[in-house]
Amino acid sequence: MSQRKFFVGGNWKMNNLKKDNEKLIELMNNASINYDKAEVLVAPPALYIDFVRQRLNPNVHVAAQNCYKLEKGAFTGDISPAMIKDCGADYVILGHSERRNVFGESDELIGQKVKHALDAGLNVLPCIGEKLEEREAGKTEEVVFRQMKHIADNISDWSRVVIAYEPVWAIGTGKTATPQQAQEVHAQLRQWLATNVNQQVADSTRILYGGSVTGATAKELASQPDIDGFLVGGASLKPEIIDIINARN
Ligand code: G3P
Repeated sequence: MSQRKFFVGGNWKMNNLKKDNEKLIELMNNASINYDKAEVLVAPPALYIDFVRQRLNPNVHVAAQNCYKLEKGAFTGDISPAMIKDCGADYVILGHSERRNVFGESDELIGQKVKHALDAGLNVLPCIGEKLEEREAGKTEEVVFRQMKHIADNISDWSRVVIAYEPVWAIGTGKTATPQQAQEVHAQLRQWLATNVNQQVADSTRILYGGSVTGATAKELASQPDIDGFLVGGASLKPEIIDIINARN
């Protein structure tokens, strides 16, 4: 197994009110988690970052689900990396497929956000992944390599980056990629890093899988050599998130 520390993020998306968050925080605070073996992150909606940070085990990272590409200004409704840090979070998820496909974010904008978030002192969790029609057309590599280049061109410090590969056709569908399907793309991405950045970055950068991960599918996925953890949506709101965090135990 690689030297890369196992990493599990929970992307809560646009879910939960304070009472729900309190139950999830209690579940995680009381769970048996070996933080020497697993790095854990939760990403609540921005409104609740401070609320969650104040109550959650300090061993767990808190992340924002998005941010803008500038420090401040007339950008109604958006938030900045400075504000995310000010509320105690240390990561930001960027380029999630829902930001790309629901809110129309381009590769260029996501690259600019990655640069600004790193420059502002946050750790970043950029997301890439192909749509079903792109996979069926044999364009998976072309798509994820294009997305990766726009991200990599804006990274100044790879030690503060965790990549998430989330095939769009597996997100929220219950159609988890098979371990073989996921491993194939993760290995291609790791080779891309070796070729286009350097071998040390390729060897040390965590590449997470996301897309309908459950307590039942996590162990076999986690046994794959180039899958370093997960970015979990629906299951991160349920008790099975603890099984997913402990998938390598
Ligand atoms: O960011 C993780 C998310 O996109 C995966 O969602 O519900 O398929 O686990 P889900």
